[in-house]
Amino acid sequence: MVEVRSRLWLPFTQMQSFDASQRTFIRGEGTSLVDSRGRRVYDAVSSIWTIVHGHCHPDIVRAIAEQAATLDHATTLGATNPLAERLASRLCALTAMDYAFFASDGASAIEAALKMAVQYWQHAGEPQRTRFVRLVDAYHGDTSGAMSVSDIAAFKSHFGALTFDAIPYGDDTLLERDDIAAVIVEPIVQAAAGMRIVPRESYRALREMRPLLIVDEIATGFGRTGTMFAFEQLDVEPDIICVGKGITGGTLALSATLARSRIFDAFLGELTEARQFFHGHSYAGNPIACAAALASLETFERESTMENVMRIAEASRERLTHLAVNGAVAHTRQAGAMIGIELRSAREGQRVAADLYDRGHFTRPIGATVQFVPPLSSSVPEVHAFFDALEDTLA
Ligand SMILES: Cc1ncc(COP(=O)(O)O)c(C=O)c1O
Repeated sequence: MVEVRSRLWLPFTQMQSFDASQRTFIRGEGTSLVDSRGRRVYDAVSSIWTIVHGHCHPDIVRAIAEQAATLDHATTLGATNPLAERLASRLCALTAMDYAFFASDGASAIEAALKMAVQYWQHAGEPQRTRFVRLVDAYHGDTSGAMSVSDIAAFKSHFGALTFDAIPYGDDTLLERDDIAAVIVEPIVQAAAGMRIVPRESYRALREMRPLLIVDEIATGFGRTGTMFAFEQLDVEPDIICVGKGITGGTLALSATLARSRIFDAFLGELTEARQFFHGHSYAGNPIACAAALASLETFERESTMENVMRIAEASRERLTHLAVNGAVAHTRQAGAMIGIELRSAREGQRVAADLYDRGHFTRPIGATVQFVPPLSSSVPEVHAFFDALEDTLA
């Protein structure tokens, strides 16, 4: 019999062997987490690509506290609030999109995007456009629609009964088919595939096509790849962009599905026509989360965060050059401040991550790949300290 020590069931975690005494975080301070044993570890994975300006950034904490005392929540089903309005404008200005539809986690922004595409084509007179094209090794989240447009077997193999088939992108003639609603892509880097870099040519044909282009910036958005959004480095024109994770600086769950006018306009009509978008979540446009996001965007400017991303990327690039010739390393991959160091086996990935923790660096391997996706407020010495520890554990 397994002794039940806790009522908490953790995601993607084998609870039989999980030892809470080794991994209970009680405080976050800047780029560090502090565990219940009093150990301070560098959050080298930004708590799975969420933390941007460091933990508990005082300006974001203040914005959250002030908003919580003013308007904590009010539904956005048939109502609005000034924070959601301001954030929608900021996000549209940043991405050159026209409208923001709010959701909560990344996967819920993806669900909204898929449903938006399908309903859009019904209004646009091509209701047969219901199929989706995705990249090889795609990952877009864990809800049914998001799993359906994902590829990585480990995440979806149990759930064939709940998913539909998406078509892997290979041949450009696919894009001419009249049943394709949208092509969904991760721009530049596929984080969950172990920071796999997608060849730029893969995006070339996506510019001039009839299906919609959905760009998933949930992992890459808000500075991680060296530009505010990764798609800015590609010659593409998204019809829909999904953002999440770093949107609130990593403090609260919030995501958004950004759309162009032609999509938004297709949903307009008389009440009796029932053309409105049939999708929504309870906490969409939550004012506290929107206040955190606005404060995070201000922090980008005040702290010149994007300049720091360049410093992080450059220091990492130098260190990867050395690691690339280390016999323990199979491949290194980098897109700005999103870095994967692929070792020779998944077991080695686990060993190295555990050893790094003991050396004061918290990361989580993806199979054989050790990830380094640091908070964008990290200093260059912190970057070097991570790579020093990694080299030591590989030696
Ligand atoms: C590219 C991408 N899309 C979507 C998601 C799903 O986001 P969430 O875990 O917030 O649902 C993730 C999560 O890692 C992701 O990396």
